[in-house]
Amino acid sequence: MTFDRLETTLRLRGGHRLHGAVRVHGSKNATLPIMAASLLCDGEVVIKRAPRVTDVSVMEALLESLGARVREHGTNELRISAANLGQTRAPYTLVRKLNASFDLTGALLGRLGRAEVPLPGGCVIGTRATDLHEMGFRALGADVRGARGYLIVEAPDGLRGADVSFRFPSVGATRNVMLAAVYADGTTTLRNVAMEPEVVDLANFLNAAGARISGHGTDTIVIEGVQRLHGVEYEVIGDRIAAGTLLLAGAITRGAVRVDGTDPRHHGALLAALSECGVACSHGVDWIAADAAGARSGTDILTAPFPGFPTDLQPTMTAFLATCPGTSVIEETIFNARFAYVNELVRMGADVRVQMDSNAAVVKGPAELEGAPVEAADIRGGAALVVAGLAARSETEIAGLEFIDRGYERLEEMLTELGAQIQRSSGIVALAEAASAYETSTMPTVG
Ligand code: UD1
Repeated sequence: MTFDRLETTLRLRGGHRLHGAVRVHGSKNATLPIMAASLLCDGEVVIKRAPRVTDVSVMEALLESLGARVREHGTNELRISAANLGQTRAPYTLVRKLNASFDLTGALLGRLGRAEVPLPGGCVIGTRATDLHEMGFRALGADVRGARGYLIVEAPDGLRGADVSFRFPSVGATRNVMLAAVYADGTTTLRNVAMEPEVVDLANFLNAAGARISGHGTDTIVIEGVQRLHGVEYEVIGDRIAAGTLLLAGAITRGAVRVDGTDPRHHGALLAALSECGVACSHGVDWIAADAAGARSGTDILTAPFPGFPTDLQPTMTAFLATCPGTSVIEETIFNARFAYVNELVRMGADVRVQMDSNAAVVKGPAELEGAPVEAADIRGGAALVVAGLAARSETEIAGLEFIDRGYERLEEMLTELGAQIQRSSGIVALAEAASAYETSTMPTVG
């Protein structure tokens, strides 16, 4: 018996130097919390440059399930009205697809005084703890408890300003507690907060809607409570992780790539690491560029909260380092299981050894990568496989495209603009025959 299923894959033929310029889409990790924040506004919110990625679609469905109205306008504009918000319980079926949906807790608590949101638990890259979120909500006077996999947070008499110190600068907890504190009575001071550009973008959005937040971008954020937030039109920042992925895609082919629509101040750690490898980096007000013709060595990487090296670029950077001469050590300090993609890289010929006890990977290069059928298991690990495929001698076919589509707006189109031979291909796969079908297939030339 055979079981048929429709599968969409990315097929690419490596070995071509990428060159040219491409504009990156808006930031997923800025758009999602800003969508959650729109629940605090009593007028229409217009979000410009929202990326068309499936995580954003899931958040749209979540907001609608809570009573908000969401309309898409053109390709990258969202219009959200939360005037009729009534529901305080976020449905598990949607939340389980999206860790960022936990940001709804702070927004619902601030707006309606109650939130019931499924606990995120874990995901393929590691544990998703919520103790810092809970500590912050409690400090603001909320009652916090767990029941049947949900976190229930209540403050029927409103929240009051407080002084909150985080033991770790969690991006999610900083956002969530900031959202809740916007309507708190009095002043809230958040210490040891995340300084990520996406946190700053959220604060800028809230201020544009009438909030009184200062200190964002430093380690201490101060929030003066206000009575209401109004509607606002806001354009999100460029996606720094997608921009970095495109730059690394160019670098792994030893090409020269410029990415437009991104703030170079968001890329300090990446540009420093690439320079250490001999990649010539340059930038202007809203672009970054990398010419990898002179790449000569690997380098060591330590992921860390911003302005450190971003954990979300760790897999793609590892793929690039696999092609560089010498030994590179990549230490992951943010998530505790973020090396699952390495098995697939090794199948493509990379020499990478993961040291589980130290949450690090040792890469020995330069490897001559070879194309292979591989499978993405998460967004950024999937991007790393695409980037590796660009340097591989033969054809690579990447399954698990649904993960890549969560965070990149048509990655293959951006890469095609830079000269990559890559295309999306869909077909009915008879599972019993899938292996032999792959062996006999050839990829049509593109670009
Ligand atoms: C966000 C980003 C994600 C990025 C990460 C770090 C979104 C949608 N996701 O995730 O892409 O990789 O920042 O830059 O914006 N932790 C605790 N207790 C808490 C909260 C977090 O121990 O209460 C731990 C987590 O388990 C994790 C680490 O802190 O190991 C980082 O989490 P956090 O900074 O909160 O990242 P996210 O907001 O989940």
